[in-house]
Amino acid sequence: MHRIISLEPFDEAFLIKSNKWLNDPEIQYLIDSAPVSLDDQFFWFRGLVYRDDYRIWGILCENKRVGVAGLRHITDKSGEFFCYVGEKEYRGGIGRPILESVEQKAIQMGLSKLWLRVKFDNVIAKHLYDRLGYVVYKSDDKFYYMEKKCMIPFLSLKDVTALHGAEINDAVTRVVNGGWYLQGKENEKFEADYAKFIGTKYCIGCANGLDALIWIFRAYIEMGVMQPGDEVIVPANTYIATILAITENGLKPVLVEPKINSMEIDDDLIEAAITPKTKAIAIVHLYGRNAYTDKIGALCNKYNLKLVEDNAQAHGCKHTDGRVTGSIGDAAGHSFYPGKNLGALGDGGAVTTNDPELAAAVRALANYGSQKKYVFKYTGRNSRLDEIQAAVLDVKLKYLVEDNAHRKEVAHLYYEGIKSPLVTLPDILPDEQNAYHLFPILVSEGKRDALHDYLDQNGVGTVIHYPIAPHKQECYSKEVWNTPQLSLPITEKIADEELSLPIGPSINMKDVKRVVDLINLFIG
Ligand SMILES: Cc1ncc(COP(=O)(O)O)c(C=O)c1O
Repeated sequence: MHRIISLEPFDEAFLIKSNKWLNDPEIQYLIDSAPVSLDDQFFWFRGLVYRDDYRIWGILCENKRVGVAGLRHITDKSGEFFCYVGEKEYRGGIGRPILESVEQKAIQMGLSKLWLRVKFDNVIAKHLYDRLGYVVYKSDDKFYYMEKKCMIPFLSLKDVTALHGAEINDAVTRVVNGGWYLQGKENEKFEADYAKFIGTKYCIGCANGLDALIWIFRAYIEMGVMQPGDEVIVPANTYIATILAITENGLKPVLVEPKINSMEIDDDLIEAAITPKTKAIAIVHLYGRNAYTDKIGALCNKYNLKLVEDNAQAHGCKHTDGRVTGSIGDAAGHSFYPGKNLGALGDGGAVTTNDPELAAAVRALANYGSQKKYVFKYTGRNSRLDEIQAAVLDVKLKYLVEDNAHRKEVAHLYYEGIKSPLVTLPDILPDEQNAYHLFPILVSEGKRDALHDYLDQNGVGTVIHYPIAPHKQECYSKEVWNTPQLSLPITEKIADEELSLPIGPSINMKDVKRVVDLINLFIG
């Protein structure tokens, strides 16, 4: 008869009082303990104690110790796993052999069948991986074995490049051998192909995504559309680059909270943030998800505001009406940072727009401010996309739709598989054409960091996007717009709870399922 009565941690006092063996002078500290299963006659818990260099699980029966399973010399490669059941010592393995021997002992003692819910501590789990290449888990009435050492990186750029490796190598070799490295045919071709893909008249390559956004606002200033001190509405939940591009131009960011279920800017809150100084709304298609809504478009029309898209994370994403993000607003900034959906082998970025005046200004600004050789219209900078990166991007652009389809499959496995009550997934819209740059989840009960560590110890890489919200960053601590009273609880909640799971064009579905299983077994 199996009945888990409680999974609450015992406190130290209870254990010491009720379990004599814990008074063993050799056992120095009780570090952590949790009952793991309890039935009428038998209870097992993991009492993690340090005894010199040992780590030990206590195995108790009717408050009498029947065994100790542990790990000796955890930092010493020659160390062994051991287990005592009564006086008998078992060595050399952990997992099923130990669990079975404990179970037999329990039966010999006339106890009912023993069920264990084993919760490994991170250090031990890691050591088991390192030494044995597997960890055993018990969940419900099943044992789960991690049979071989597995590493599931958050994103393997090496694997991503290898997907189209031969073509990428050919493209790089062509440029290297061609002897023309800047402002040449490779840029021309990529710009034309990317403009076509996005659906705009113009595409201007530049050094990175931050510059792309900086040049858009700077161009509007040069064009007389904005002036320093004007306000730009921007989501509070974004990568800081969106906001840096605004402040870099002496413009004032007005931060608007996201909706918690999409984590994108809350279009219901925008109108209240508009003032006579507002000149633009900057939307960010964060995590690969479209942030544009018809309500935002209507506000831009009503108040005569520019709509700037930060499309750094959303190459290939579409609005429900079929428009590709990056073509919806007046101008869009794109990043080709290596980890992006369309990633270069280094930095890269672009601006897309249908506005010829803006396009010309951006092109000049990213080229020292020059439209004609040695003639300088603006005080620009050197911010160009080099020919090698343009050639690589043009190869990868051909596969972007296919790569994004793979990302979507991964995302759907997460949507179908993740059942942990601790985890909230972003909502999913019926016609959504998300580029799934990231797969963000929210982890409740303050367990985000624990889940991150647990997955890490189990070989799974995850990343927090982003642990500190922009308005909490030191660089903005003295800004007048960032008063201590600025309250952005949803943004802060996301910073506290968000965790991005592995996703990308190269991850295989078996690994995704393993991530799902691990998350479902996580109890915090
Ligand atoms: C939302 C967002 N905006 C802007 C940027 C800046 O792009 P980059 O890293 O190419 O400067 C990034 C990427 O890093 C980003 O994620």
